[in-house]
Amino acid sequence: MIPKSFLSLNVMVSYAMRRTAWANRRCNPRHIRCASTFSVPFTADRYSIKRGSYEKINDQDLAKFRQILGSDNVITSDDDLERYNVDWLNICRGQSKVVLRPKDTQQVSAIMKHCNERSLAVCPQGGNTGLVGGSVPVFDEVVISMGLMNKIISLDKISGVAVAQAGTVLETLENHAMENDRIVPLDLGAKGSCHIGGNVATNAGGLRFLRYGSLHANVLGLEVVLADGTILPFGTNMRKDNTGYHLHHLFIGSEGSLGIITQVALLCPPRPTSVSLCLLGLNSFEDVLQCYQQAGSRLTDIMSAFEFLDTQCFAVSCEEHNVPAPLKEFPFYAIIEVSGWQPEADSTRLNELLEDLMGNGLVADGIVTDEPSRMQTVWKIREGVAEASARRGYCYKYDLSIPKQQMYQLVQDMKERLGSKVIFSAGYGHLGDNNLHLNIIAADYTPEVAKAIEPFVFEWTREKKGSISAEHGLGFKKRNAIHYSQSPAAVSVMKKMKQLFDPKGILNPYKVLPDDGCILGHE
Ligand code: FAD
Ligand code: MLT
Ligand code: ZN
Repeated sequence: MIPKSFLSLNVMVSYAMRRTAWANRRCNPRHIRCASTFSVPFTADRYSIKRGSYEKINDQDLAKFRQILGSDNVITSDDDLERYNVDWLNICRGQSKVVLRPKDTQQVSAIMKHCNERSLAVCPQGGNTGLVGGSVPVFDEVVISMGLMNKIISLDKISGVAVAQAGTVLETLENHAMENDRIVPLDLGAKGSCHIGGNVATNAGGLRFLRYGSLHANVLGLEVVLADGTILPFGTNMRKDNTGYHLHHLFIGSEGSLGIITQVALLCPPRPTSVSLCLLGLNSFEDVLQCYQQAGSRLTDIMSAFEFLDTQCFAVSCEEHNVPAPLKEFPFYAIIEVSGWQPEADSTRLNELLEDLMGNGLVADGIVTDEPSRMQTVWKIREGVAEASARRGYCYKYDLSIPKQQMYQLVQDMKERLGSKVIFSAGYGHLGDNNLHLNIIAADYTPEVAKAIEPFVFEWTREKKGSISAEHGLGFKKRNAIHYSQSPAAVSVMKKMKQLFDPKGILNPYKVLPDDGCILGHE
């Protein structure tokens, strides 16, 4: 029998409800701004950045853009520009004077051709949910906002391949896939705002990575516009295609620095018909790891997420989102989601595992549910950590790959190192993928705190042979730390590739690649 505490949210839900579970799986924060009201300083000032030798926009340029796009899709008023200049975390602020909103690939091509000829720098922008300052300009780059390129072109019901314009909102694509008994192999808290093109450009990971792997496995083809306006259709949309170099992979995770992604072909797996999850309270991180190990071996084929949060993240998220805590206070929480096609059998396997975990003392308390609104509540707590934390102050955010055994040690080391200099240091993330999110919240940005965190965090991660960017990318904020995870030889090849695709360096300057002269990750 399942211990009583496991059933505290939901005793027995009829299996008929399970089918709708996936559709309602998670609440979806549509916000795009944290609720903070402090005024965001210009990135160029805060971080002392020198403008590259690009031309400045003039009236002839604006006239050309209006000719290509029509006046409505050339935005120049200060009020309207603001949301394109400031990032989701309210940390980076650019000074762009113009935002362009193309409707199709030909328009993107015409814009790029003109910008390249005139040496005008550009910043491609999707849903502007990126967390490393890559999606907003640093100076006066022309913002190319992809939001109007939002058509789903096709979904092959037999192969499951969906083709969509890059500006399609992830959630819209997910809804369309589900109507066709498919799902998108990617899910994240920003899905109501982020674009599939932005996801590909960042090689976003998220909550389904554990089950479906990276976008490198699921993106079958791309259409890309290069810096000079050349339109490159890559790939055949076939799963197997070994005709020459796999060029489209270069653009997955290139963060707008090699080309503008205009169309994506994505493999969408079949939609599971039964979903359930449990939220567990645990007394130590070691218990979380043991729990993961047992879940991994017993639920291998049906486990679709294994996430963890520490007590700080759990409390802040519940408080900021006004969610009554479903469990009392524990040092750690884990969320295990299973999904499949055999409701009875899947449920039995999860329940038997939970009984054993409780029985052997690894899990102190927990709830299990397959009721959609209750699953939503649990996901709201997990997915709401980013927003809740950022509401509390300036967020020094790190996204690291670290061997599981050592993952939480970094959070503890940072707590000791920073003490009362900050409001709190907290850890959570995609444990199944070795991906720790470390949020350090302080009253405001200060160089003193920044220096206490960096390069310490990067050195710590390199020592453990981890990665200083697991899924968010390098963008503006982490570009000079690339050397902690990549060799000088690899960075040198990346610079040559950039030169090949974008000889004038107009695509998303000050992002991804380190500044000239930066060798060891220091500015
Ligand atoms: P933007 O933020 O607009 O841009 C991101 C980068 O991609 C920029 O460098 C931009 O120049 C470039 N870009 C955008 N569109 C294009 C295009 N069409 N062509 C070329 N370059 C382009 N990330 C994860 O990996 N996993 C998560 O679980 C996750 N959860 C998140 C939860 C929240 C609440 C938030 C706010 C963010 C989260 N993110 C996560 C971070 C973020 O990377 C993703 O939200 C998403 O992939 C960014 O997509 P976007 O359309 O908003 O891109
Ligand atoms: C998440 O997993 O919640 C996202 O990557 C956002 C974050 O790092 O806070
Ligand atoms: Zn994440």
